[in-house]
Amino acid sequence: MIEAISAVNEGHVIAYGDDDITARAVKLFKKHFGKDVAVYFVFGGTGANVLGLKAITKPYQAVICAETAHINVDECGAPEKFTGCKLIALATPDGKLRIEQIEPLMHVFGNEHHVQPRVVSISQASEMGTVYTKQELKALAQFAHDNNMLLHVDGARIANAAASLNVALKEITTDAGVDVLSFGGTKNGMMYGEAVVFFDERMAHDFKYIRKQGMHLPSKMRYISGQFEALLSGDLWRRSAAHANRMARLLGSELEKVPGIKLTQPVEANGVFAVVPKQFIEPLQKKYFFYTWNEAISEVRLMCSFDTTEEDVQEFVALVRRTVK
Ligand SMILES: Cc1ncc(COP(=O)(O)O)c(C=O)c1O
Repeated sequence: MIEAISAVNEGHVIAYGDDDITARAVKLFKKHFGKDVAVYFVFGGTGANVLGLKAITKPYQAVICAETAHINVDECGAPEKFTGCKLIALATPDGKLRIEQIEPLMHVFGNEHHVQPRVVSISQASEMGTVYTKQELKALAQFAHDNNMLLHVDGARIANAAASLNVALKEITTDAGVDVLSFGGTKNGMMYGEAVVFFDERMAHDFKYIRKQGMHLPSKMRYISGQFEALLSGDLWRRSAAHANRMARLLGSELEKVPGIKLTQPVEANGVFAVVPKQFIEPLQKKYFFYTWNEAISEVRLMCSFDTTEEDVQEFVALVRRTVK
């Protein structure tokens, strides 16, 4: 990525994305997602989610999401502040929304006393490291569309999901009926930069104004575009994501063998969720940074990335073994 940034750091180009590098990067998005997508680069993931949602909602509407969704718990209320929408957050055992949970909310349509559900927002891969299958995505999109709603995907880890399912990006987005996607660059190895992808150009009609007003129009766009080019022109995006997933599977299977440690979710992407007895968490955190995900059950979240090595995993597991002994 540093090389990619360096490579586009030649001479002068027009600012705000009106440059050849950005044109090439946009073309690559069209190659991966289909020629009709509209693509806008932004600085970060919260911005991608908030502005993507803003483009497709009105303030009296609602966004239905999982209780664990980044938009619900990790964006400091930005989605509510900038869209004006109420988030309806539903509890899920594994971070994945299911149609049966959304269905009971559909009776409020037309009732002026209630916010009007407009968007179903899911995270792929989910915040609990699980992955929606193609069939699940299609069914959610169909359900949303049948109820005059749209399907938004927080794809901060969409590359991990595609690698996990061994499918093309298009198969779990365009072909599944997704309407708006936050495409994650940062968690796939970019230094910074995400993209908002609209699968129907008409939804992107006002987006250039929304992005600018939302303070996410990068003047030196080429440094984001150059990174996306490096990621998407070959298979770097898939190799990096598949590697992170593989390391997570290794970490999961090794941790499972440690007495007293219990995995709480299947390892389907690059995250491992495990119950670690409370007294051991702090000693482990002295050496490794990780979050306690759920204090109540002493569950931690461990994430692997494109540069996690097998030695990293083995060293961590060895420390866990020594600590819990
Ligand atoms: C599911 C999810 N969405 C979006 C983001 C992006 O957030 P940021 O605004 O930090 O780039 C993250 C980062 O942790 C995430 O985990």
